[in-house]
Amino acid sequence: MREAGVNLVSVGIFSWSRLEPTQGNFEFGWMDRVLDLLHEGGIQADIATGTASPPPWLTHRHPEILPVLADGGRLWPGARQHYCPSSPVYRAATKRLVEAVAEHYAKHPALAMWHVGNEYGCHVPACWCDVSAEAFRAWLRSRYGSVDRLNDAWGTDFWSQRYSSWEEVLPPRRTPTWPNPSQQLDFMRFSSDALLECYETEREVLARVTPEVPVTTNFMGFFKPLDYWKWAEREDIVSNDSYPDPADDRAGMRAAMASDLMRSVGRGKPWILMEQSPNRVNWRDVNVAKAPGLMRLWSYQAVARGADGVMFFQWRQSRAGAEKHHSAMVPHGPVESSSTWRQVVSLGRELASLEAVRGARSDADAAVILDWESWWALELPSKPSNRVRQVDQLEAYYSPLHERNVLLDFAQPDGDLSHYRLVLVPNLYLVSDAAAANIVSFVEAGGTLVMSFFSGIADTSEHIRLGGYPQPFRSLLGLDVIDFHPLGALTEVGLELVDGKLGRGRTWSEEVRLKGAEVLATFSDSELKGGPAVTRHRAGAGTAFYVATQPDPKTMDHILAMACSTAGIKSTAEVPRGIEVVRRSVRGKSFLFVLNHRDTAVDVPISDAGVNLIDGAQVHPGLIRLGPRDVAVIREGW
Ligand code: GLA
Repeated sequence: MREAGVNLVSVGIFSWSRLEPTQGNFEFGWMDRVLDLLHEGGIQADIATGTASPPPWLTHRHPEILPVLADGGRLWPGARQHYCPSSPVYRAATKRLVEAVAEHYAKHPALAMWHVGNEYGCHVPACWCDVSAEAFRAWLRSRYGSVDRLNDAWGTDFWSQRYSSWEEVLPPRRTPTWPNPSQQLDFMRFSSDALLECYETEREVLARVTPEVPVTTNFMGFFKPLDYWKWAEREDIVSNDSYPDPADDRAGMRAAMASDLMRSVGRGKPWILMEQSPNRVNWRDVNVAKAPGLMRLWSYQAVARGADGVMFFQWRQSRAGAEKHHSAMVPHGPVESSSTWRQVVSLGRELASLEAVRGARSDADAAVILDWESWWALELPSKPSNRVRQVDQLEAYYSPLHERNVLLDFAQPDGDLSHYRLVLVPNLYLVSDAAAANIVSFVEAGGTLVMSFFSGIADTSEHIRLGGYPQPFRSLLGLDVIDFHPLGALTEVGLELVDGKLGRGRTWSEEVRLKGAEVLATFSDSELKGGPAVTRHRAGAGTAFYVATQPDPKTMDHILAMACSTAGIKSTAEVPRGIEVVRRSVRGKSFLFVLNHRDTAVDVPISDAGVNLIDGAQVHPGLIRLGPRDVAVIREGW
């Protein structure tokens, strides 16, 4: 580990059955040895609470903690994460374990951070058992207060679903056809909260025993079941697990987007890349190896986008168990012949030279709105199109600006938008009154907005906002949407921009009637031929663009470039395609990360002098050559 420059290790994540081999009998000896060794080696520990995989004695004695699916089938033990989030028995057992672990290691000199659970919701994001049903009812009572208000919120007169008492209310179990959509939405809210309560049960113990030790739990990027805005508020430091697919040519963009989300949910504070694979994973159909330099490139990308730590799953490749074919820093074979090991070692050495970057932040002038509740509602079934997926639409907006090296934050629709000049709103299907007003006032105060189709359609109960689509944004956008014309998987619609450029739209089209907005593009074929497809409207001191389809990437880039120029937003640097540039700053010092995602060498123009922290070389204004997948971290100024 010292050879690899390791200075922090997660320990004991899936060790419950070793830490507490039988109920109430704790055995810490083996882990004491590990932690003492780490400490003697000058390495700190991110000690896990170990609660993500209940031991056999617990599920044997209490099979009722095993999770139940919507169709009533119960999951068996034998893998991991086999627990019902609402189970009082599971929660009490985790509390006892965490109390024992926390008290035992509170004073251990290696302890640097607590790692609660692991990837909450990863395999079991929700449970439909009777215990969960009871907890769901309690959650609903506190949300609605009375059965009448629940009936209103769920629109239960439709299909004769009106409840006369709380006892009749159930989670949305498997039904003949779609369960009530508002019920499903509330169940998603409840399920995210139920897991958050599990996390809180543990965090409270840790905060009491070791108030000075930071607490984290590892996130999974764009993980739909958990509202990470809410979760991140309860963490001292955000951490993320990132496994982009080396076979995916958009993987670099996708990893960047997840990193930006982590920086954003943590309110701009540095975060930790908690897990990434040194090389292959084991859980895809085909687990493509990382090309030489790719692990390093993606590690630096996380740092560029706000991470102050880079870690791996896993240290030593295991001999047995379900993940023995997952790569590790230390492989099955001899380390001397392993290029993975060599790359891990040299990354460790290099990262030590980035000390000055620690704590540095990036201020984005533009943000993308992401709201989990709207995501959940958007993807409920029985919509004009099931092909409108939140992450696809986020990517459609994020990707062109990522290519242009415009840094984007993610923001909440009802959050403070005042420090942004440009706000992008892909498919904010569900919106609260407060959030709608917030978005309108952002524009009226001078902001630039780009909103896509199927936004502002439903309220927080997932009831349609009547009065014409998109009701809360009609006057902001200066238009009415008369009706939706979603497009089939193989159908596209032509687009004609006012400057004569041609493009294509997919996924969606709609009939738009102008009420003050100006047309930037029209549909050039289909039944909507000649109708507005992209519009712009002045509202107050700002400008609101509307995009009534999913334009092809080139057209999307063109629209976003217009929006950037309206908002006065510039790229971090003008560089060749495939070069990613991000700046982090702290205490008047700035660091320019330059990442070559191409597999060929590229000459990159640099405008300011500086020093490349990785090799200590002076950088002069002009061109610097970056080899395939190479990176430079330039401390700007001499
Ligand atoms: C997740 C988990 C790890 C491991 C890896 C494999 O990130 O947290 O325990 O299963 O996936 O890629």
